[in-house]
Amino acid sequence: MSNIVKELKADLTLRSLQDILKPSELASIRRGPAPSPAEQKARQKLEIVLKVSEMLSNPAAADRLPDEIVAILPQIVPVERTVLVLADEAGELQAHKAWVAPGVGAEAGVFSRQIVRYAMDNAVAVLSMDAAGDSRFDAAGSIQAQHIRASMCAPLRGRQRMLGALVADNVTRTEMFGEDDLRLLAGFANQAAIALENAELARSLAEQARRREAELTGLVEERTANLREEKERAESARAEADRLREVAEAATHEAEEASRSKSRFLANMSHELRTPMNAIIGYTDLLLEEAADAGDESQVRDLKKIGGAAKHLLALINDILDISKIEAGKMTLTVEDFDLATQIGQIQDTLRPLVAQKDNQLEVTCPPSLPMRADETRVRQVLYNLLSNACKFTEKGRIRLDVRHEPDGSGPGWVVVAVADSGIGMTPEQTGRLFQAFVQADDSTSRRFGGTGLGLAISRHFCRMMGGDVTVTSELGRGSVFTVRLPAVVTLASTE
Ligand SMILES: Nc1ncnc2c1ncn2[C@@H]1O[C@H](COP(=O)(O)OP(=O)(O)OP(=O)(O)O)[C@@H](O)[C@H]1O
Ligand SMILES: [Mg+2]
Repeated sequence: MSNIVKELKADLTLRSLQDILKPSELASIRRGPAPSPAEQKARQKLEIVLKVSEMLSNPAAADRLPDEIVAILPQIVPVERTVLVLADEAGELQAHKAWVAPGVGAEAGVFSRQIVRYAMDNAVAVLSMDAAGDSRFDAAGSIQAQHIRASMCAPLRGRQRMLGALVADNVTRTEMFGEDDLRLLAGFANQAAIALENAELARSLAEQARRREAELTGLVEERTANLREEKERAESARAEADRLREVAEAATHEAEEASRSKSRFLANMSHELRTPMNAIIGYTDLLLEEAADAGDESQVRDLKKIGGAAKHLLALINDILDISKIEAGKMTLTVEDFDLATQIGQIQDTLRPLVAQKDNQLEVTCPPSLPMRADETRVRQVLYNLLSNACKFTEKGRIRLDVRHEPDGSGPGWVVVAVADSGIGMTPEQTGRLFQAFVQADDSTSRRFGGTGLGLAISRHFCRMMGGDVTVTSELGRGSVFTVRLPAVVTLASTE
């Protein structure tokens, strides 16, 4: 005789009251007042069902769910031991929670793997009145040892897989389970499975949320640390900038102080250097006159050499003092009225020996009179520099001096002086470097022609101080043209 009294198909679609209540019970509930004993029983059952479903659907109780499941089952079916069996990730069956009626003295958590597998594999709830003799149970000895008399097992069906099973045993009593009990167990197991899955889902969502929060917290902390670092970097950069500014200010202060000392030094030196030079030149001239009167030719020659060298040295000292004064911003101009045409005539006379020295021809074009208001000495110095350069860098050639007035509306207009020569000329690269102090067109210049490279730098400074400029065009091997442009009337503002 089969020990299977009943197998109940656990239909997944039956997850409502119909799982637990028979249609006749439901009908009696719907009928209304004056309950019969059957109705009363049904109402009691309904109350339990409501309690169970409330317990199972309460998310706050998710952690206690397994305990609740094994503890509430005895309230629904007459049972002495309940075991909640769950399949782990590897599919192994484990007694997750168990309950044993007080005083029964049975070991908790004992269950038959075979019957649980059977219920899970076949998706049926199983009822056996004689567990020890039931072939679906494992080792009969162990069943006997546990004194299992009657046993029920209902699968826990999840959405995707079987979660495990609910086992209800009677250890001391037989014939206690009926079809109703099996139906109740199956219904309860269906609800419990949903609740267990929901609890698991809630747990994993909470876990995900916790991980996400931890990630976000990490990100926020990282970002805060980065910001702090950036702020610290910005602050130290600002501190460094402040420090550098202080250093720069101190350096400027020192430089200003040094410049003041330099000006004082230059003023003293100017006096100290020029005085003896002028004495040498003066006495040489005197001696020269005496020697000439005495007809001492060889002394005249020597004294002329001394005088020439002394004048050259004085000119050099003057240039160096001029450029130093200009660079220290201490050069001042003296503006006065003069006739440029007259000045040009004087320069022409002074220059005659220099023009003849290298067999050159000088042609001058100049209006008979050209009134000007400027620093006469500095204008002479500029023109003399340009003309002496033309003589120095030209041999057996032509030097042209063109002086003209360029009108400028109703104003005094401009004075334009061009000094052109047919000398050695320069490359564009060389002209690009001109007008800087101590710069010569190339290194061989000072060896071949002498000079210090100060003349043009000084000339440009003077022209600019007077509100004009000096420019150059040149062609290597063909000659150069230096053009000076100055306001005919230099005003105070333009001298600043
Ligand atoms: N007319 C010119 N033709 C060719 N090269 C010139 C001419 N004028 C100036 N230079 C070049 O420009 C350089 C600078 O001229 P600058 O008058 O400043 O100095 P310098 O004549 O060498 O020396 P210094 O005038 O101080 O005695 C010269 O050394 C020369 O190389
Ligand atoms: Mg020169």
